[in-house]
Amino acid sequence: TKGAAMVTAVASRLQAQRKQIDKVLALFRLTQEQLVGIRNKMRVEFEYGLKKDTHPLATVKMLPTYVCGMPDGTEKGKFLALDLGGTNFRVLLVKIRSGRRSVRMYNKIFAIPLEIMQGTGEELFDHIVQCIADFLDYMGLKGAQLPLGFTFSFPCRQASIDKGTLIEWTKGFKATDCEGEDVVDMLREAIKRRNEFDLDIVAVVNDTVGTMMTCGYEDSNCEVGLIAGTGSNMCYMEEMRNIELVEGDEGKMCINTEWGGFGDNGCLDDIHTQYDKEVDEGSLNPGKQRYEKMTSGMYLGEIVRQILIDLTKQGLLFRGQISERLRTRGIFETKFLSQIESDRLALLQVRRILQQLGLDSTCEDSIVVKEVCGAVSRRAAQLYGAGLAAIVEKRREDQGLEHMRITVGVDGTLYKLHPHFSRILRETVKELAPQCDVMFMLSEDGSGKGAALITAVAKRLQQPQRD
Ligand code: GLC
Repeated sequence: TKGAAMVTAVASRLQAQRKQIDKVLALFRLTQEQLVGIRNKMRVEFEYGLKKDTHPLATVKMLPTYVCGMPDGTEKGKFLALDLGGTNFRVLLVKIRSGRRSVRMYNKIFAIPLEIMQGTGEELFDHIVQCIADFLDYMGLKGAQLPLGFTFSFPCRQASIDKGTLIEWTKGFKATDCEGEDVVDMLREAIKRRNEFDLDIVAVVNDTVGTMMTCGYEDSNCEVGLIAGTGSNMCYMEEMRNIELVEGDEGKMCINTEWGGFGDNGCLDDIHTQYDKEVDEGSLNPGKQRYEKMTSGMYLGEIVRQILIDLTKQGLLFRGQISERLRTRGIFETKFLSQIESDRLALLQVRRILQQLGLDSTCEDSIVVKEVCGAVSRRAAQLYGAGLAAIVEKRREDQGLEHMRITVGVDGTLYKLHPHFSRILRETVKELAPQCDVMFMLSEDGSGKGAALITAVAKRLQQPQRD
């Protein structure tokens, strides 16, 4: 009959649509074999970065940090810390009491307007110093001469703990005249320009390193620091004898891997989708930080948006209408992805979130959007897992251990806010590094506190030479 024919027609149309959607989602599914391959490639890149001959061309830069030891509990004093490069810019006062291993912190968050992130270097550093001045004022510390630790979460080439030449900007920053310059000098000069206070800049630190230090303060087994936030990066303690760029064979030094650049030599091309390419092309640094762009909070929402645009073009979503909103870059922040993927949320609520974003959805639309978010964040967590498995396996083999226990200090909005990310990451590491027992330790305010701890250690080590 006519009715039955219509039902069959609708059913087969739905089936065809489903097939098209599945085809897109399948691009984001990684097999066990692929993940093993990615882990192995990451391992190769680590070695390239560490070796003198291959280092200049390495895409995973493996930067020495001159952080060689963990805090031992004797550190004490008042420190200022700056935290630049994550979701917020913060100025902190950190009070460390020795013996009890207790740390007190006061901090203020400051916005960095887009025109300053992407203006001139002088403007950026003047703004930072302005924020420090406000903070000192606010804390009643005007005129105080405190040692300062600077968490600067970008790739820096260091020749000592208090020097760091910015190699290149990543994430949302692009201020001019900074690349190739020492950021500590730039900060000192901006302080001089203002001519209002003096600060003793003791250390410049990557956020991964701060995170590892903060967790290391409580758990001496913590030898890896991981950031899954706006950006993606990892640091770990390496044997000095394996670090060809630094003289000396004794002890260990923390290496900032800058693994966000993994894949920039094309080694991830087989899993790079057309959506990843679009995100890359629309970014501030096309062709760079490919792994970061597949894994971190700043980009996951963008990948989702590119997929939604494509599905809409194919007539599979939003009644085939690409709204102005959907065309807008950056609408899907990590917090929205996290909400959409929350299992406690009814579909109606997903629709409400989409509504808030200015996207009119049907019930079917909201199911598809949720699936898309799930596919993108799952791949990100698995890629992180493959990278992490590579480092813990390397550490295990380097120490000649059959089995190894290690703690990873973690920070970042993606890890903390997302409902599934941390679980999938842990599961993947377990599968890809079965001989390692990896404990994850959340760091509360890792980068700020860590910068202060590193500053305290550096101060303690400085003392004998000064007396
Ligand atoms: C980017 C930066 C890196 C930082 C990471 C997390 O990858 O290049 O230095 O650690 O973001 O903030």
